[in-house]
Amino acid sequence: MAEDDRPIRQKMPYVCEQAAGSYAWCRCGKSAKHPFCDGAHRGSAYRPEIVQLDTARRVAWCGCGRSAKPPFCDGTHSKL
Ligand code: FES
Repeated sequence: MAEDDRPIRQKMPYVCEQAAGSYAWCRCGKSAKHPFCDGAHRGSAYRPEIVQLDTARRVAWCGCGRSAKPPFCDGTHSKL
């Protein structure tokens, strides 16, 4: 298995009060608008994770990019 060379933006989630809507979570780790995609993945093998929130709610977006349940934090950051 190839080593994961994506940058780790932060070893904690981005906890946000989000409105209902569609969001594109950055998977490549290069976005300047982290945790959201800004198109920086172009030319790489990574694509953003698109998620639809049907209602407004508090979200813990993964900030490390290593969650097993992307785009949400699952605590994996604590093992990095
Ligand atoms: S910030 Fe990535 S698993 Fe928590």
